[in-house]
Amino acid sequence: LILCGAILFVAYLLGSLPTGYTVVKLLKGIDIREVGSGSTGATNVLRTLGKGPGAFVLLIDCLKGVLAIFLVYWLFNFAQNQDLIPSTVNPGIWQAWMVTLAGLAVVLGHSKSIFLGFTGGKSVATSLGVLLAMNWQVALATAGVFAVVVAISRIVSLSSISGAIAVSIFMVLLHQPLPYILFGVAAGLYVILRHRTNIERIIAGTEPKLGQKLQTET
Ligand code: G3P
Repeated sequence: LILCGAILFVAYLLGSLPTGYTVVKLLKGIDIREVGSGSTGATNVLRTLGKGPGAFVLLIDCLKGVLAIFLVYWLFNFAQNQDLIPSTVNPGIWQAWMVTLAGLAVVLGHSKSIFLGFTGGKSVATSLGVLLAMNWQVALATAGVFAVVVAISRIVSLSSISGAIAVSIFMVLLHQPLPYILFGVAAGLYVILRHRTNIERIIAGTEPKLGQKLQTET
């Protein structure tokens, strides 16, 4: 139990690593939370600094999610090799639940970073990283929905919300275990909640298109 708690804490810390904030601070000397959408995510970095830094932040934030899940895989592997898991428990199911909890912890850490006074991004890239490590087919299908919506609408937030809705559907269609389906539902709902202000702007018709500045900005 202590080990499980430690894994979740490490996953949360990993998610908390403020990639977007640090990149913008180093390259432009400003606090990204005070520009654009105020999010520390790749979309706002793209808006503020352009494609290169945006892609870098996307990659690192995605890797945070991948790493958190691989940490669980490695530890379960180690525990099994050392005969630390009692024969009465099914390691597959335990691992799936731990993967789900660590996934939620890293996603939470990204948007409520301990290093940024519990602010952060909208957890889209980090959720994608978790999905990639959980089940790459679900991850690719979800990324496909994102890509199609972004190609048609040029609005990143709308694409993220579409992906967040689609992920649970793909989890069920691809017969994923119950903990993974629950991750899809919980992370999906959380990502949608994090887009509340985007949803208001989409309805008002003021949500900026890919790389554009927000209309409120000068
Ligand atoms: O991944 C976040 C994206 O969906 C929206 O970002 O900065 O436009 O609020 P932003």
